[in-house]
Amino acid sequence: MDFRLRAQAIHLIALVVLSSIIAPSLQSGQFCDAGIGYGESGCGISSSKILIKGGTVVNAHHQEVSDVYVEDGIIAAVKPNIKVGDDVKIIDATGKFVMPGGIDPHTHLAMEFMGTQTIDDFFSGQAAALAGGTTMHIDFVIPVKGSLSAGFEAYVEKAKKSCMDYGFHMAITKWDETVASDMEIMVKEKGINSFKFFLAYKGSLMISDDLLLEGLKKCKSLGALAMVHAENGDAVFEGQKRMIELGITGPEGHALSRPPVLEGEATSRAIRLAGFINTPLYVVHVMSIDAMEEIATARKSGQRVIGEPVVSGLVLDDSVLWDPDFNTAAKYVMSPPIRAPGHGKALQAALSTGLLQLVGTDHCTFNSTQKTLGIDDFRKIPNGVNGIEERMHLVWDTMVESGQISVTDYVRLTSTECARIFNIYPRKGAIFAGSDADIIILNPNSSFEISSSSHHSRSDTNVYEGRQGKGKVEVTIAGGRIVWENGKLNVVPGSGKYIKMPPFSYLFDGIEKADATHFSSLRAPVKRYKATS
Ligand code: URP
Ligand code: ZN
Ligand code: ZN
Repeated sequence: MDFRLRAQAIHLIALVVLSSIIAPSLQSGQFCDAGIGYGESGCGISSSKILIKGGTVVNAHHQEVSDVYVEDGIIAAVKPNIKVGDDVKIIDATGKFVMPGGIDPHTHLAMEFMGTQTIDDFFSGQAAALAGGTTMHIDFVIPVKGSLSAGFEAYVEKAKKSCMDYGFHMAITKWDETVASDMEIMVKEKGINSFKFFLAYKGSLMISDDLLLEGLKKCKSLGALAMVHAENGDAVFEGQKRMIELGITGPEGHALSRPPVLEGEATSRAIRLAGFINTPLYVVHVMSIDAMEEIATARKSGQRVIGEPVVSGLVLDDSVLWDPDFNTAAKYVMSPPIRAPGHGKALQAALSTGLLQLVGTDHCTFNSTQKTLGIDDFRKIPNGVNGIEERMHLVWDTMVESGQISVTDYVRLTSTECARIFNIYPRKGAIFAGSDADIIILNPNSSFEISSSSHHSRSDTNVYEGRQGKGKVEVTIAGGRIVWENGKLNVVPGSGKYIKMPPFSYLFDGIEKADATHFSSLRAPVKRYKATS
């Protein structure tokens, strides 16, 4: 089957599955007749029925005042004046925005990294996410000694305590026949449709251009999205050596050793190699103008490149790495580094004009004790910052409150585009009848304040400590359950579902045609006549 047929078949199957989930409730007495009202007594009511009344319902392309009725984990109806019985929980959303729960495309829960493990696991990280209005995340499976299947099993185990829906990307850290065939199994059987290639972290996760090319070819053949951590790892290694030789061993050495030019170079290289193979590329944690401009140029030329900035790169700057207190400075160490003032503003503008497509967090938290592993040498500070709980509020306050983006854009950047890229739209990323009931209610007139004393992460620090802003997620509904209301979490370990993500997203549409056009333009091989002597 060719790319398009396969993608269409997968879409068809998804629609059939979706309608088989919705249809019974639409047809059965449980849902009742619209004239009688949803969920009235005698209609087979369960406590999983919720009516959100009078809010402004926002999707990526449209907003209108409407009611939203939820039953058994699914959005059953979106229309004005829905009538229900006494046994349906009613939430008044008048004057508030009713939006799809956030989807965080980039997290690292319970990840073993740099000699330790991230402090938030699949329960604490997800609980924090829900308190901040994120209802699904996609975490990176790290192979075990290069083995994808062992890595997958390990993450299945870690994710057993999940309290919200999640999906997996997978890192590729070595190359051989087993890895290649395991990639196929991951895509065709395990629901993974994206693979990350690290061009940095020399000596641990970093791969060569040779491997990247093999990986890009394999991704293309499977309809899986190739993702890159774009920094030149060899040059970073050299930069780190230089800093140590200069006697710079503190957190500022982290920023100085891996400047934006190394991010720009690797972004450009990965884009060019993906273009050479003609497969879509997703650049994770875009932190600099240099990388953003490479993505913008490629997109202008028609190449399918997605750029994901993360919230830390949008709202923080690198001055914090020069803080005289080690603990304060070290908590901001992540890779690529948080950049000098100006980069964040430029990344915000790129999001608002469509040059970058969605916002992640790279939530990868280490507490202050873990960060002190690098007290004498910045190269040993575990890389990573928090954000899974803060992203929705910070993007709202920074981008919507400032007038840079509309409310519909906000939905696109925080959920819809992620769902489209990873091929789970409109099950996720939309407030439609039939979509999963992952919903937030945001009060634009309320305010938030961030502090490690009140956040839900297990970390004892927060890189956004003390930040205040407008717009507060007052209610989070995940899988049809109210999990956050009145400042209280109500979460159950094991209640989250693994979301399989099918291959051949919209990014693959037309790839085969472009290949055919390219091959037919080669004017080769040239038929040559044998010279007669
Ligand atoms: O510093 C970071 N970004 N830590 C997580 C690993 C990665 O590169 O995404
Ligand atoms: Zn990375
Ligand atoms: Zn990451």
